[in-house]
Amino acid sequence: MAETAVRYVFGTSFEREGERLRLGESLWDKGTKATLADLDVGPGWRCLEVGAGRGSIAAWLAGRGAEVTAVDLDVSRLVGLRGVDVRELDIGADVLPGDFDLVHGRLVMQHVGDRPAAVAALCRSLRPGGHLVLEDTDTTSLFSHANGPFHPEVKRAAYDVMADAGYHPRCGLLDVDLVEAAGLVDVRAVGRAEVVRGGSDGGRWFALWLAHLRPAMLARGTVSEVDIDRAVADLMDTRHRWLSQVMVTVVGRKDTG
Ligand SMILES: C[S@@+](CC[C@H](N)C(=O)[O-])C[C@H]1O[C@@H](n2cnc3c(N)ncnc32)[C@H](O)[C@@H]1O
Repeated sequence: MAETAVRYVFGTSFEREGERLRLGESLWDKGTKATLADLDVGPGWRCLEVGAGRGSIAAWLAGRGAEVTAVDLDVSRLVGLRGVDVRELDIGADVLPGDFDLVHGRLVMQHVGDRPAAVAALCRSLRPGGHLVLEDTDTTSLFSHANGPFHPEVKRAAYDVMADAGYHPRCGLLDVDLVEAAGLVDVRAVGRAEVVRGGSDGGRWFALWLAHLRPAMLARGTVSEVDIDRAVADLMDTRHRWLSQVMVTVVGRKDTG
């Protein structure tokens, strides 16, 4: 694998990362599957799942009869995935395999340093007529709460840590322009947000997000242990509900001309 210039912010030894990824799948898989089912993915399709994580979408595509290749910087959580060709690759630096009917990536482009180059590389991996589906977040809505501001300083501190590692907080919206600039046609985009209840699987995903970033947030010095503890307690409290980020899904097609 080639050297990457950007450090993946969650690529640490945080022991509950597998659980965090699973909770993220439980929050976002339903909408992702609806988008991909709408394209009619099935037998005869060749699919590339980038930044596959724990592989729930790669496994689901394989279960629909598609031929699936899954790539990630860290493939340790993809070992044993049935019917999926797993490869350790950096989508920001390595040459990717080609001739796919579908390339899908969720919550990965937002962590890549040179996003225009990476989107162009994903487009090169498509066969003419193939679809690119990118899903990334716009973070503006996160922690919108009926009672007013919900831990805005903790949200800011967490995203500052992620930005230090190359994360872009408006990436979901910016993906639309990148997909158009890469020359795909029929480009369309929608956003979906979840209303998350404290203590639910979705609520725990946000609590583990803070747990993972906690040491780096404290090192930056803008929030204290008490601030983070209060936020985590509220995220686990069933009396609270808040809006998630908006997951922006961009779909484009490679021209056959
Ligand atoms: C937030 S997780 C999302 C996982 C999965 N796509 C999902 O939505 O459940 C981001 C994943 O992208 C991978 N990743 C980050 N940067 C990458 C890169 N440059 N090349 C390949 N994979 C990358 C990480 O290792 C991680 O598995």
